[in-house]
Amino acid sequence: MKFFIDTANLDEIRAAAELGMLDGVTTNPSLIAKIAGDPGNFTYRDFKEHIARICEIVEGPVSAEVTCLDSREMIVEGEELADIHENVVIKCPLTIDGLKAIRHFSDHGIRTNATLVFSPNQALLAAKAGASFVSPFVGRLDDISTEGMALVEQIVHIYDNYGYATEVIVASVRHPQHVVESAMLGADIATIPFSVIRQLVNHPLTDLGLKKFMEDASVMKK
Ligand code: E4P
Repeated sequence: MKFFIDTANLDEIRAAAELGMLDGVTTNPSLIAKIAGDPGNFTYRDFKEHIARICEIVEGPVSAEVTCLDSREMIVEGEELADIHENVVIKCPLTIDGLKAIRHFSDHGIRTNATLVFSPNQALLAAKAGASFVSPFVGRLDDISTEGMALVEQIVHIYDNYGYATEVIVASVRHPQHVVESAMLGADIATIPFSVIRQLVNHPLTDLGLKKFMEDASVMKK
């Protein structure tokens, strides 16, 4: 399973990349707003430069989201974003306009990530439109008392039935159990916040065992 990091924070991206297991990055307008500081001073050009900096750190797909609703505008914006770097993937919302844009990009060899996906039919449409990636948001479904991982199971099953090449990115990951279940279900990718990536490492028995080993190692003469 591939690990993407779900952040636009360069320090977090660098730290995750240093672990040697970072396969890509996903951003969205809310994550960009977090690093933008004073919104009045952050321009669209700054956004594009920021995406370029991410591409310098990570060798893998970097999702940059369009910031408009009309398919023609999405196409113009997406083509500009795709020009930043060959690893840029255009993130489009799962709407009628988003699907039209995804089809356009797919026909022109530009990779896309269908985002804000909350149902199996939306995922089916994304695959039929030629999306490279689909992003079911499991945490946001859990937030409304709906089993987010059940959606991932349905999508993986449907894509397997028809051999769709669209890769499933489990998104809106909130905790390590989401990562375990993603792997159990055979999702292609989990995009994980940095705080959760760090949690994956931890186990109290590892800490306890290591403490004892260090104590016992200290009896050895160097
Ligand atoms: C996915 O690509 C999104 O950026 C992200 O996973 C959304 O997560 P959230 O529900 O925590 O905002």
